[in-house]
Amino acid sequence: NQENCPNDEFILVIGGLGYIGSHTVLELLREGHNVLVVDNLSNSYENVMHNIRILTASHCKQKGVPVPLLHFHRLDYRSRSMRLLLETYSNLVMEIDASGQQTMTYRSRIAGVIHFAAHKSVVESITTPLQYYQNNVCGLVSLLQMLEKYGIYNFIFSSSATVYGAKANEGLPLREQDLVHHPEQHIDQAGHSIALQPSVTGLSSPYARTKYFAEAILADVAAANPAWRIVALRYFNPVGCDPSGFLGESPRGEATNLYPVLTQVLTGTRPRLDVFGSDWATRDGTAIRDFIHVLDVARGHISALAWNERAEGQGSSFRTFNLGSGNGTTVLEAVQSLEAVAGRKIPIRWTGRRPGDVGSCVASTERARAELGWSPRENIVQCAADLWNFVRKAGLDSMIKV
Ligand code: NAD
Ligand code: WQD
Repeated sequence: NQENCPNDEFILVIGGLGYIGSHTVLELLREGHNVLVVDNLSNSYENVMHNIRILTASHCKQKGVPVPLLHFHRLDYRSRSMRLLLETYSNLVMEIDASGQQTMTYRSRIAGVIHFAAHKSVVESITTPLQYYQNNVCGLVSLLQMLEKYGIYNFIFSSSATVYGAKANEGLPLREQDLVHHPEQHIDQAGHSIALQPSVTGLSSPYARTKYFAEAILADVAAANPAWRIVALRYFNPVGCDPSGFLGESPRGEATNLYPVLTQVLTGTRPRLDVFGSDWATRDGTAIRDFIHVLDVARGHISALAWNERAEGQGSSFRTFNLGSGNGTTVLEAVQSLEAVAGRKIPIRWTGRRPGDVGSCVASTERARAELGWSPRENIVQCAADLWNFVRKAGLDSMIKV
């Protein structure tokens, strides 16, 4: 309702009902932004919307501030309806240029776009690469074309630490500027050209390559049109959830990431955790990851939108930022973090390394701190506590999913 909200500009969040998207939508609303969510529910449930509304209403009541607008459209962002949607949220205005010529242009009420929608399973991407390139790369290209038409240039993209590939194994904090890709070709003995093999690019899956190609596309687009302000955020390992326990990670598919698997062991859905590898060159032999609270990741998007806005009119830019905690946690330490909050032992079984895994992957947070003014607020203890709270309250497996 317009009375509540004199400023009717929206932030468009594509894939806004997924794990990271839903927390970002909630943070945007808590900060007073109106939000337009697009999601096809391929990996999420509509009841997430309901929970976001409840949490927002309670926040606004507590603060005594008006409730921002939250619109939801269930659609595939690659469908024709997307164009209609952008048209609906734009006004056609007449402009007169210096020579007195009249032109009709779109003035969009969408002030920025955060694009989360993608397929994200590393393993699945190996068996269905085209599905991954279609959603994560082709979809992105069409989306950017549409946004240009409607004059929407503030764009935030979900990238991943996976783009660092084997560089992570060097064991040093990963810095954005250290990522140099050399898209080479390897010619085998029979004279066949093998392009973009993992050994050549250091990237271990089609999923990783979708993010690498997407970043390259975004860089080219920004270089070609001075209006674009594009940020690619490279998430490390987002975990945890809103402390209310009403919002968490509720995917449709099978859990394969460490923390969701651990919670399934705790809730009895799985008998134990298989630990992939005990022979990594780390303090306890298990792999090291940089776990970052999902609300910190969410806040990173708001900082990035503001960063783009501040620099508007100063030429185009494409900039990448790591969103990680800067701290490494081993798999065993992650297990202990959940054991501590659940007050229970988690049974484990030692197994071999998972194909494509790296031994260590930790972010340098310098650039995000210096340029975005962003820094993580939460630690791994808080991540585990919030996750366990969600599991107990909603029950990962018993949640009513619609
Ligand atoms: P998620 O699967 O929970 O969320 C993605 C959302 O996008 C889902 O709600 C899904 O229904 C929706 N979606 C997918 N394809 C769509 C389409 N064509 N049209 C409309 N909606 C569509 O994933 P997430 O963990 O929230 O990840 C969000 C983004 O961050 C993804 O791009 C992912 O690749 C990237 N990322 C995630 C992680 C992680 O560990 N979760 C790490 C690095 C990068
Ligand atoms: C963490 C550590 C496993 C499960 C993946 C994607 C990455 C990004 C985040 C999207 C590893 C070990 C895990 C289990 C285990 N996603 N593990 N037993 O592999 O760092 O990153 O998710 O962009 O692209 O690759 O995260 O949570 O799967 O694994 O021992 O049952 O836990 O081997 O060392 P990962 P993860």
